[in-house]
Amino acid sequence: MSSAAGQETDEVGEIYDEMSDLVEVYHGNIHLGYWAGDDDPATLAEALDRMTDLVAGTLALTPGQHLVDVGCGVGVPALRVAARYGVRITGITNSAWHAEETARRAAAAGVDDLVTARQADAEALPFPDAAFDAVLAFDSLPNAVDKGQWLREMSRVLRPGGRFAITEYTAEATLTPADREVIATHAIFDPPTASALCALVAGAGLVIDERRDWGARVRRTYDEVAALFRDGGEALADAYGAERVRAFERGLAPVFEVCRAGLGYLLVAGHKPG
Ligand SMILES: C[S@@+](CC[C@H](N)C(=O)[O-])C[C@H]1O[C@@H](n2cnc3c(N)ncnc32)[C@H](O)[C@@H]1O
Repeated sequence: MSSAAGQETDEVGEIYDEMSDLVEVYHGNIHLGYWAGDDDPATLAEALDRMTDLVAGTLALTPGQHLVDVGCGVGVPALRVAARYGVRITGITNSAWHAEETARRAAAAGVDDLVTARQADAEALPFPDAAFDAVLAFDSLPNAVDKGQWLREMSRVLRPGGRFAITEYTAEATLTPADREVIATHAIFDPPTASALCALVAGAGLVIDERRDWGARVRRTYDEVAALFRDGGEALADAYGAERVRAFERGLAPVFEVCRAGLGYLLVAGHKPG
């Protein structure tokens, strides 16, 4: 990609390429988990899948519909949603590794006719107008260099009457320039306030029917992942290499600190006027 924004987009893709198989630390889900409260006994894996179900549940999907998953990761959420609702899903990611891994997982699950993925930029989706019944951006909008452009593209490829679901990290506290630099190392750019995000969504021509502030529901993810490194360090080191795991953990710790202290989590869902 040749523009300045395109270059940043490529760099985001490279962050994920580099992480590659370490996504298994998150059971292949690169999003936050959902816990109902402090005494919720759900494991990290269960909480991650639960979030997928909650987010996908807002799309009112019916069998045979076609969903575009903008920022599909390695396709774990897409495979789960396709199996549950009998929908076709086209995943988009700027990571070459994610696109290949999604295709590999879809083939292994025997659903490569339902779930496909390609490398493309969410700022310029390679689809005609109104091509999809539903659009999803599941923990990918935080990576957007130009959030308004992502949302306009999502709106453009959605058919009138189609539904959307978006999750985003929101700024709950004033983030210092140093905080912003820390989270940018993990491609979390310019967290908007909840109202700024809603204004961007509306500005893209989308109508919000549902808005959920799940900051308190997701925060345990940071502790659970940190505990995973603390308690499972040896197994992870055996699987991925001690130095690689240590470097990943070292990079993650300050990011989680800022997320825990300063970021919320918002789901917005709704439709494109018909
Ligand atoms: C945090 S991961 C979320 C993955 C997946 N939705 C999940 O829940 O497991 C963000 C995803 O968005 C993709 N992404 C980030 N910026 C992108 C862009 N400009 N265009 C396309 N994909 C992008 C990344 O490659 C990655 O697959």
